Amino acid sequence: MRLALGVGERVSVRRVRAEDEARFVELARESVAFHRPWVGLPRSAGEFAAYLGRFDQVAAVGMVICLREGGDLVGTVNVNGIVRGCYQRGMLGYAAFLPYAGRGYVGEGVGLAVAYAFGELGLHRVEADIQPGNSASLRLVRRLGFRKEGISPGFIKIDGVWRDHERWARTADHVY
Ligand SMILES: CC(C)(COP(=O)(O)OP(=O)(O)OC[C@H]1O[C@@H](n2cnc3c(N)ncnc32)[C@H](O)[C@@H]1OP(=O)(O)O)[C@@H](O)C(=O)NCCC(=O)NCCS
Repeated sequence: MRLALGVGERVSVRRVRAEDEARFVELARESVAFHRPWVGLPRSAGEFAAYLGRFDQVAAVGMVICLREGGDLVGTVNVNGIVRGCYQRGMLGYAAFLPYAGRGYVGEGVGLAVAYAFGELGLHRVEADIQPGNSASLRLVRRLGFRKEGISPGFIKIDGVWRDHERWARTADHVY
């Protein structure tokens, strides 16, 4: 199986795999305060195994964003909830690991994952659900050409709380 699903200037994206466990869990633990309350990533071997199990390559593809120089993991990007038939859509999830946040790596990596979703996965629509206060994430999708379609109150349960989310999306045939 080909390793890189996308290669950019500074980062590449590839499927997350079992061998990533130690470094992934270490970085997720170091980033826990930074990720809260936006996302929760696996912070133990057991959680990582369950996380890997979600990615069946049909309904969900889990990726890591890696530095081209040295290969360290700088973040994650997943295409979840893939629906085929007349929808051809998927939902993005992503996060940066400290100490790599805020350097443009994850923006580049998510851009590669979106190109992969429209290209090899053949999706027509990619969505991102973002809490209104998450300005870094909002900036990231805006820069990638996503459009805000609305807001869904109490949409996703994170850390035990049903949180409102803005609904952002981009379609393959339309750059807004
Ligand atoms: C959202 C997230 C992935 C962005 O990662 P990043 O490493 O900052 O990404 P980039 O460096 O590519 O920057 C994204 C944009 O946000 C901006 N940004 C970064 N940190 C910011 C902050 N604290 N406040 C406002 N804007 C910020 C960057 O300047 C950049 O905008 P620009 O391209 O207009 O300059 C990261 O903040 C993160 O992991 N947050 C916690 C998890 C999360 O929220 N995931 C998404 C859930 S929807």
